[in-house]
Amino acid sequence: MILKPSKENILKAAREIKAGNVVAFPTETVYGLGADGTNPIAVSKIFEVKNRPSFNPLIVHICEMSQLYEVSEIYYERIEILAEKFWPGPLTLVLPKKKIIPDIVTAGHPTVAVRMPAHEVALSLIKESGVPIAAPSANSFGFLSPTSSHHVEKQLGDKIDFILDGGSSSVGVESTIIEFEDSGIKILRPGGLPIEDIAELIPEVEILNGDSISPKAPGMLLHHYAPSVKLKFFDEADTNQIIPEKTGALYFSKKKLNTNFKAERILSESGDMREAAANLFKFLHELENTDIELILAERIPETGLGIAIMDRLTRAANKYR
Ligand code: TXA
Ligand code: MG
Repeated sequence: MILKPSKENILKAAREIKAGNVVAFPTETVYGLGADGTNPIAVSKIFEVKNRPSFNPLIVHICEMSQLYEVSEIYYERIEILAEKFWPGPLTLVLPKKKIIPDIVTAGHPTVAVRMPAHEVALSLIKESGVPIAAPSANSFGFLSPTSSHHVEKQLGDKIDFILDGGSSSVGVESTIIEFEDSGIKILRPGGLPIEDIAELIPEVEILNGDSISPKAPGMLLHHYAPSVKLKFFDEADTNQIIPEKTGALYFSKKKLNTNFKAERILSESGDMREAAANLFKFLHELENTDIELILAERIPETGLGIAIMDRLTRAANKYR
């Protein structure tokens, strides 16, 4: 059931969390499927609903800085500098965990991923629940992340009772995940916070940014984030074999081909990366719901949020390679 984000409904959802049940809730990146992050039985319900392999660790969502110290150890000054600057926001920090966080949340890892989301409904829900909320994206394992309550309902509606509505996710791609090392900061997943913004704030710290395609965050598979329809980049498709009536096109800023495809989407007419990121999953959901057999996607310039967008598209394409 989709619930309007009234005070009453947020309190109702918070009671569910406290009672050990799962609730889907909005964040600025994508919708999350939340449970009490200190209750292992409650967290196990997330894996059940998502069909997710339990070796895949979850992000713990907090609503104020004091909770960061409850769940994790802070051992570098740059951790607080980044949190103060970018929270609430699309940045997840991987830190040594404290005992309060059970192993099921971290899949047995000694570290916990923590984030303060920039969405009023999420923040109130966490505050009213009185506990950090463990949540993955609210999609079935291996499918597209949801950026609206309707996306969640479509995938998980028959398995969960409460979906708090909070409109369309304004960022639209998952958070940037980083880990700290003596020698610098490691990007585990490019996401909603551009890596350039991190580099600008702490120029003295080295940013270790490997190949964004290799799975560095545990459980990040090469073919994650895939729509149910086959996806290819334009430059990888054999143009003689394409049937326009059975194909959807995903362009960056303008239509590139004269061909009229069955469905066409332009991520941002003005070439604005933020708008493109916010539209990415929405358009992929729309395209997979059109009667087509193939999605052709244009490559996006890999700067700023373009890195996260290309990461998601490449993973989607990998599923069908
Ligand atoms: O924007 C987001 O991050 C969204 C919203 C709901 O907050 N959440 C999200 O969660 O994308 P999920 O479960 O779909 O992806 C979490 C990623 C996984 O790839 C996982 O491997 C990584 O976080 N992760 C979690 N704990 C980790 C840890 N201790 N060390 C390294 N990676 C970790
Ligand atoms: Mg996910």
